[in-house]
Amino acid sequence: MLDITHPPTRPLLAASILSADFGAMAEDCKDAINKGADLLHVDIMDGHFAPNLTMGADMLRGVRRHLPDAFLDVHLMVERPGDYVESFARAGANLFSFHVEVCESMRPGGEDPGELIKRIRDAGMHPGMVINPPSTIQHLEQGIGPYLDNLALVLVMSVNPGFSGQKFMPEVLDKARWLKEHVGPGTRIEMDGGLNTDTLPSAVAAGVDVTVTATALFGEPDRAQAIKNIRVASI
Ligand code: DX5
Ligand code: ZN
Repeated sequence: MLDITHPPTRPLLAASILSADFGAMAEDCKDAINKGADLLHVDIMDGHFAPNLTMGADMLRGVRRHLPDAFLDVHLMVERPGDYVESFARAGANLFSFHVEVCESMRPGGEDPGELIKRIRDAGMHPGMVINPPSTIQHLEQGIGPYLDNLALVLVMSVNPGFSGQKFMPEVLDKARWLKEHVGPGTRIEMDGGLNTDTLPSAVAAGVDVTVTATALFGEPDRAQAIKNIRVASI
C-alpha cells in the first residue's frame, strides 16, 4: 500500500475514476493501476455542494473488493461530510478529504475541522482538506492553516467541482505556492481539475506532489502512453 506520509521522489499520479466507464468500473480501475497510476481518486458529490450526483460508499466498497491493495483517495464534495466518515472508512477508504467551504470558518454552523480530522483518524483514514477556486489565500490561511500539522493532504481545486473535462484555472497556483511554504514533510499538496500535459508543469513547479487526472488518463485511447506522457510532464 502506498505511504503518502513521506515526500514522494516524483509527483504521485492519482487517476480520477469520475471519467472511468461506470459500467466496467473494476476493470478500468485495475487498468489504470496496472499501467502506472499510483492511487485512485474518488469524487463523491451530493448534487448540492457540487451540481452533480456521482457515487457513494457502495461504489467504493465494490472498488475496494476488486482492488484490495490500491490507495483510495476519497474527495467529498458534499454539504455535510461529517455524516459519511464512518461509512467510507468501513467501505475501505484510505484518505477522506472535505472542503473548507462547508466548515465553520466559512459557514455559520458548518463543520468543525478539528473534530472531523480526529474522527477521520479514529476511523483509520488519513485526513485531507480541500479549497475551491473562488476561496482565497486568506480562507486557506484561516480555515486550513491551523490544521496543517494534522493533515495528510491539502487539495487545491483547479476547476469548480462538478465535472471532468473543465479548463484549468491557473490563478489557483498561488495557493499551492503558499502551501509549499507552510506544510511540513508529512503533508502532500494535491491539485485536481484540468490537469494535462500542458498544465501539469506549472502545477508541479508550484509545489504540487499529487496530481489528479481524469480526462487526460481515462479519456485517452492508449492509457499506458497517456500515463507516460503525464509522468514526463510532471518532472
Ligand atoms: C471535479 C473532480 C475532478 C475531476 C477531474 O469536480 O473533483 O477530480 O474528475 O477531471 P479532469 O482531470 O478531467 O479535469
Ligand atoms: Zn476530485
